[in-house]
Amino acid sequence: MPLVTTKEMFEKAYKGGYAIGAFNVNNMEIVQGITRAAKKLNAPVILQCSAGARKYASHGYLVAMVKAAAEETGLPIALHLDHGPDFETCKSCIDGGFTSVMIDGSSRPYEENIAITKQVVDYAHARGVVVEGELGTLAGVEDEVSVDAENASYTRPEEVIDFVTRTGVDSLAIAIGTSHGAYKFKPGQKPRLRFDILQAIEEKLPGFPIVLHGASSVNQEHIKLINKFGGEMPDAIGIPEDMLRKAASMAVCKINVDSDIRIAMTAALRKHLTENPTHFDPRQYLTPARELIEEVVAHKIEVVFGSNGKA
Ligand code: G3H
Ligand code: 13P
Ligand code: ZN
Repeated sequence: MPLVTTKEMFEKAYKGGYAIGAFNVNNMEIVQGITRAAKKLNAPVILQCSAGARKYASHGYLVAMVKAAAEETGLPIALHLDHGPDFETCKSCIDGGFTSVMIDGSSRPYEENIAITKQVVDYAHARGVVVEGELGTLAGVEDEVSVDAENASYTRPEEVIDFVTRTGVDSLAIAIGTSHGAYKFKPGQKPRLRFDILQAIEEKLPGFPIVLHGASSVNQEHIKLINKFGGEMPDAIGIPEDMLRKAASMAVCKINVDSDIRIAMTAALRKHLTENPTHFDPRQYLTPARELIEEVVAHKIEVVFGSNGKA
């Protein structure tokens, strides 16, 4: 099946009260781990590449791998640019086979965010590509700028109608307390998301797909494995799964996950190499890494996002 946009996926997800998983990909094993899980569960899925992924793996390899996965699985798969930092990066992805791009103008002044987002929307829509914009800033790393929790600002519901109308974006990423990376809350801090803000946005934009970034749950068993086999990850707290389930039942149609995949891959690799110190064939240690990614993604699709059987 050729790559698809997120339009139909989001329409169905909104009506059905579930969300589509959007997983970051950087190499072949990650693409395969995710899409094998999606195939097993007959789930639509979004594979997304950051500017860093394009730098690491190169645009051509990423597009070819994702197209191969779509052909092999026959699933609806969208290829999305994650956190597009500028017009040129978005243009390069639109011209180069992506079906969806994010222009992340969230760290810019409001009017500048509108202007650059609209510029990307005009270019993308003329070529059949959909666009995600962002309002509000998450704590963590965005655009290679570190945003600390104190400087992170929640999305202002009173701005969303103006932003969506003037830019023409197809979906909107919002800040309600999630953040990028493994350390989302301080040790001892109780995870909290601003569902009141999500609710207010949903009321202002009925039927409009909302995106949740920074949504990894951080599997404690995987952290323990990393540390048992020589790693040194401090206590990490992610977004509780019941909160993600609740968001998926509301207007959130796309949930972004990267850190959970990184942590799973690292846990499996550390365990394998420590238990098998003589191994030096990459296929030996990348196989359990790919399998654990598949397990993590299958769990998200089936238990947390509810997109199983929706392809
Ligand atoms: O939100 C950021 C994603 O986790 C991508 O991270 O820029 O290190 O590829 P990256
Ligand atoms: P996590 O770091 O929580 O996995 O978030 C990933 C993300 O938002 C990618 O855009
Ligand atoms: Zn993100």
